[in-house]
Amino acid sequence: MNEIKIFAPATVANVSCGFDILGLCLDTVGDEMVIRKSETKGVRITKIIGQDLPLDSEKNVAGVAVLNLLKELNSDVGFEIEIYKNIKPGSGIGSSAASSAGAVYGVNELLGKPFSLKKLVSFAMEGEKLASGTAHADNVAPALFGGFTLVKGYDPLEIIKIDPPSELYVTVMHPKIELKTSDARSILKQQISLNQMVKQMGNFGGLISGLYTSDYELIGNSLHDYIIEPDRSILIPEFDSVKKACLASGALGSGISGSGPSIFALSRGEDKAKEVGEEMASVYNSININFDIHISKVNPKGIKIIEKNS
Ligand code: HSE
Repeated sequence: MNEIKIFAPATVANVSCGFDILGLCLDTVGDEMVIRKSETKGVRITKIIGQDLPLDSEKNVAGVAVLNLLKELNSDVGFEIEIYKNIKPGSGIGSSAASSAGAVYGVNELLGKPFSLKKLVSFAMEGEKLASGTAHADNVAPALFGGFTLVKGYDPLEIIKIDPPSELYVTVMHPKIELKTSDARSILKQQISLNQMVKQMGNFGGLISGLYTSDYELIGNSLHDYIIEPDRSILIPEFDSVKKACLASGALGSGISGSGPSIFALSRGEDKAKEVGEEMASVYNSININFDIHISKVNPKGIKIIEKNS
């Protein structure tokens, strides 16, 4: 195989109570990438359609992730990457993660899969570091593994995949304003109280338990964030009204998607997820900010191969 075309999905990180350690994979929104072998060693980004991003491999998250992978290989093969970007950078649904994870996934396939998914996560995390200043794995891991992923530890890296409950749907509203992850991280407090820790851990444990047992009520009443959301929500116009509208229309829970500005809600069933999307839209229709709404099942597989060419 000399060329591969893939779908690199968007992701929702944190999922309210799991800052930097929990994420889920979306199915209906993502980028496409074409990755091909080339005779020139190294990696070149030959085309980016849809967004204005650097072509220089060392300044592009996909390039950096692949360069990191190539460092571990004693190979003369080079790669070219075309990126068709649908996920806007600074949207809070894992734009840089889709590019980083997609690039290393594609290269690994073309090389005959020498690396495990966990290893690919560690390469892709270097792309995240370039984008946000921190090598967090809670977007790249769900993009590569699918479903929900729990980063049990960073050093050493330990990732646990959790299959999504079958009726769980995600609604994401993306307000069309850019919020850089580095900026949204810079406002966070570096210390928390014991009381916050106890409440957050209770909810995090409840959420994980609810996911394993498909207990939708428990999932819903565990979706609280006492640490990050109070500080970050002020950066998102009408966050409280949107969240209130989601809960009033029957969503299991709602919160900031990743570092924002996107807002997510989880619902039981697709019809409910659509209803929740309409309620989100009606809040934003009353203010002057454009938005997109995405409705998606949790994608159980992660990155998908669209085409392979020899
Ligand atoms: N855990 C990261 C953060 C996710 O909240 O900063 C960024 O998408």
